[in-house]
Amino acid sequence: MAGTDPLVPFTGPHEIPLAPMKTLVVDHPLVAHKLTTLRDERTDSPTFRRLADELVTLLAYEATRDVRVTDATVTTPVGPAQGVRLTRPAPLVVPILRAGLGMLDGMTRLLPTAEVGFIGMIRDEGTLKAQTYATRLPEDLSGRQCFVLDPMLATGGTLAAAIQLLFDRGADDVTAICLLAAPEGLAYVESLFADYGNPVRVVTAALDERLNEHGYIVPGLGDAGDRLYGVV
Ligand code: URA
Repeated sequence: MAGTDPLVPFTGPHEIPLAPMKTLVVDHPLVAHKLTTLRDERTDSPTFRRLADELVTLLAYEATRDVRVTDATVTTPVGPAQGVRLTRPAPLVVPILRAGLGMLDGMTRLLPTAEVGFIGMIRDEGTLKAQTYATRLPEDLSGRQCFVLDPMLATGGTLAAAIQLLFDRGADDVTAICLLAAPEGLAYVESLFADYGNPVRVVTAALDERLNEHGYIVPGLGDAGDRLYGVV
């Protein structure tokens, strides 16, 4: 329910009929402030990297709201206290190379015991389809909660392929953290995973207007990989 659960079903613009995949657009002045500077074309790479890192930590706080915990008791200097600890197996954080690497430190700052897997994907700029060029993941992800780091949810092709790869290895719960999302990409991911049976969540700092004819998010922030690491 919208009033009690901050991860509410996305029913967003352009009248795209969307099934209930949980999408959260984090509404917080610090998130908006950092994102504004990230978008600014005058922001240089060192500043962009630092702000992306800080922004991811803020998004990660919301994205881990459903992270699994187990009851635990500790003894304080005064007596026993009930608490929780992260459940094992540890969550898996999966940055999508190249640009997702710029989100890794910001995420593991909040989840230092998480393990990290890598997926290398490149978008064919002609077809806009995602191609996987590297995977370094545990073979068996049964029972694992996974957090995918993909800064730009544009067409959704890259993110959808990554989520499918994780489910194929047995993951049962995937949360994607994206700096920005386009309605077209969200709708595409929803169309594939809304009825999949396993939870899929998307947490983002903003839902932008649309994609342009090159598959870039408008107004977006340009090419996230180039802005983090330089033009290739
Ligand atoms: N990838 C990017 O880096 N930026 C976009 O706007 C879309 C895809």
